[in-house]
Amino acid sequence: MKNNPQLPVAAITGGASGIGLESARRWIADGGRAVLLDLSRSALNKALAELGGGARGAVVDVTDNASVLAGFQGIRETEGRLDAVVNSAGIARPGPSSEVSDEDFTRMLDIHLTGAMRSCRAAYPLLKENGRGTIVNLASVAALTGMPGRASYTTAKAGIAGLTRTLAVEWAPLGIRVNAVGPGYVRTALTDALVTEGKLDDAPIKARTPLGRFAEPAEVAEVIHFLSTQASSYVNGHLLMVDGGMTVDGNWYS
Ligand SMILES: NC(=O)c1ccc[n+]([C@@H]2O[C@H](COP(=O)([O-])OP(=O)(O)OC[C@H]3O[C@@H](n4cnc5c(N)ncnc54)[C@H](O)[C@@H]3O)[C@@H](O)[C@H]2O)c1
Repeated sequence: MKNNPQLPVAAITGGASGIGLESARRWIADGGRAVLLDLSRSALNKALAELGGGARGAVVDVTDNASVLAGFQGIRETEGRLDAVVNSAGIARPGPSSEVSDEDFTRMLDIHLTGAMRSCRAAYPLLKENGRGTIVNLASVAALTGMPGRASYTTAKAGIAGLTRTLAVEWAPLGIRVNAVGPGYVRTALTDALVTEGKLDDAPIKARTPLGRFAEPAEVAEVIHFLSTQASSYVNGHLLMVDGGMTVDGNWYS
């Protein structure tokens, strides 16, 4: 049975946690329905219990094309429409570049970059049929900066900026806008795990961020929401930094 076809539908990869979950919350608060596509069944169950009736979830692995296609087929069958996509699935695995294995390097690209491409490609027919649609990809300050120990992550995020620009130009004639956000450090399960594992020291990050703190997931979700709705109707192919001023800070001398 199809859900109410009047309500706009957003598909959110990695939607069961962090920035993806907050994006779902924001979309639902605006009257839409959110479909969370996430690898973790337990995180999905928890997120769906929090979000209530406006959300649905499916276990999807963005590294598996058949799984991604099945997730979007489920949206076709159950929701009957798709208006917005947020590609937020991701992990962090820092380590020295001199020691990184091909397998680990390629795995990060597969999750972040090829994963976003798989989701965009699977969403395309639905967005096209809708006559209008938006995609927001999660880049990072890592798309614009060099970060020791994060070769695969920075490469993937720089790739996402390129992917975003190309799809924005290619799909604009169909009314599909494609943008990216570039968060600085956001307080989520991803960064909490790095802090706990001793792979991230938050003190120098706060000191290096002009606003002097990490972002809250809701602050990033608000920008994703702007890029996902008609409020940003002429913004296309843009990488919008949400980093507290980190990447424009030239004040290294004081
Ligand atoms: N947290 C930050 O500081 C920060 C900063 C810049 C960019 N980002 C990016 O934002 C995105 C979301 O990060 P977050 O902090 O909300 O992370 P998070 O860990 O809170 O959530 C990520 C979600 O992705 C899911 N996921 C992981 N691998 C998957 C796969 N193969 N298929 C489907 N789902 C998968 C996880 O289950 C999890 O629910 C990531 O792309 C991350 O790189 C995060």
